[in-house]
Amino acid sequence: MKFFVDTADVDAIAELNDLGMVDGVTTNPSLILKSDRDIVEVTKEICDMVDGPVSAEVVALEADAMLTEGRKLAEIADNICIKLPLTLDGLKACKILTGEGYKTNVTLCFSANQALLAAKAGATYISPFIGRLDDLNVDGMDLIAEIRQIYDNYGFETQILAASIRSANHMKEAALIGADVATAPPGVIKAMANHVLTDKGLDAFLKDWEKTGQKIV
Ligand code: E4P
Repeated sequence: MKFFVDTADVDAIAELNDLGMVDGVTTNPSLILKSDRDIVEVTKEICDMVDGPVSAEVVALEADAMLTEGRKLAEIADNICIKLPLTLDGLKACKILTGEGYKTNVTLCFSANQALLAAKAGATYISPFIGRLDDLNVDGMDLIAEIRQIYDNYGFETQILAASIRSANHMKEAALIGADVATAPPGVIKAMANHVLTDKGLDAFLKDWEKTGQKIV
């Protein structure tokens, strides 16, 4: 499973990039607001930092305006992936932009039927939002499993990008189901390394090592 980082915080991306944990980045208007930076400037900086796709989201609601915004965002760098909402206009724009050779990410997906439409529109990625479904007491992981089955049934090449990830457990479940990608906040990716027995074991090893009086270097 590929790891995308769901943030426009360049310092956080750099830290994870140094760990080799960044296969791509996803942003959205709320994350741009949080970064308090100009969208073109910060997106360009992110694109220069990572080799993989960097999703930048259009904000227009009509297909023609989405096409204009999408093409403009794609001028930022070669690794831009144009993010479009899962609406009929978004699907129309997706079909056209994919046909023009751009990478596309159809976002705000909350049902298997929506994901089926995105695949038929040729989306490079479909972004089902796990956490926001969980917030409504609907198991978001069931949606990932449904989409996985539908895409496998018909050999759709659209990649499942599990989004709105809120916990390390979400990452594990997405990987078990077979999501192609998961995009998560930096803190969630770092939290995947945590285990109380690792901390406890390391503490015991270091105490015993100290008692040996030895040094490795
Ligand atoms: C995905 O691309 C979105 O940016 C993101 O995962 C949304 O997550 P949220 O529901 O935590 O805002």
